[in-house]
Amino acid sequence: MGFNKEIIGKIRHSFVMREDTVVLSYPKSGMTWLVEIVCLIQKKGDTKWIQSVPIWDRSPWLENESGYFELVNKEGPRLMTSHLPIHLFHKSLFSSKTKIIYIFRNPRDILVSGYFFWSKTNLMKNPGSLETYFEWFLKGNVPYGSWFEHIRGWLSMREEKNFLLLCYDDFKKLLPIHPLFVVHVYHDDGDDDGGGGGDHDDDTRGTIEKICEFLGKKLEPDEMNLILKYSSFQAMKENKMSNFSIVRKDIATNDLQLLREGATGDWKNHFTVALAEAFDKVYQEKMAGFPIGLFPWE
Ligand code: A3P
Repeated sequence: MGFNKEIIGKIRHSFVMREDTVVLSYPKSGMTWLVEIVCLIQKKGDTKWIQSVPIWDRSPWLENESGYFELVNKEGPRLMTSHLPIHLFHKSLFSSKTKIIYIFRNPRDILVSGYFFWSKTNLMKNPGSLETYFEWFLKGNVPYGSWFEHIRGWLSMREEKNFLLLCYDDFKKLLPIHPLFVVHVYHDDGDDDGGGGGDHDDDTRGTIEKICEFLGKKLEPDEMNLILKYSSFQAMKENKMSNFSIVRKDIATNDLQLLREGATGDWKNHFTVALAEAFDKVYQEKMAGFPIGLFPWE
């Protein structure tokens, strides 16, 4: 993926963070979903903004040239998005009042999601097969490099008070173990009730409440219901300002689908036993020494 080295250098050496909000993730971890929720929170559930302005203009992409200049020239607190690893941020990130929301996901699902996504773009060489992409992913030869380094780097901030850690995956089981710094984000369960039903609805609601608390926002019950409705998988899939259908045609094919499955565990439909074992082996090596039990898939 071709980055503008000059922009990356500016981010690293001169882009001073202020009282900003940064939504961060390794690609394909559910960042678009999170940005949509944050935008809806800012507007208290009013959909005008999310339905009229492309998501990359609502929350500009820091490492994208036009996003970078938009952010540099913007006064006041900014909302921005980035997939960059921690070491490429300016040192002011660690001393400013910037609020960081980092979302993570089972890397096996990220791998599958990335394979289907990048293959429909010219942002990287086409791997041709899942097996080839799998090898590239484990070596970090994919856009934004190694997942293992990304997560290790950002999770080093997990105890900071201006850092909110969210997980895409359903990990109900882990909640009692790490209630302080891990928040569930459930995917929509396919009900067409506009926001997931039953437990999912309740847990997504809880997550949105945590995000509100972190951002210092308060919502009325009907505002919360609107946010649940308009950030659901189905609603986002239909929102062309968020579903990437208006992405530049010179970088993606017409059938690019950002909202593809929206599920946890889809990797099981694509990995062979051999791939699953190979993944586990590399995972054990790369994550050695990392706190056990932090991730729901362990
Ligand atoms: P899949 O490809 O597995 O479907 P990112 O925004 O970081 O690129 O992540 C994209 C992934 O998030 C895709 O996963 C997409 O379907 C999922 N996603 C986006 N919006 C979602 C939503 N509202 N609910 C559930 N999943 C969502």
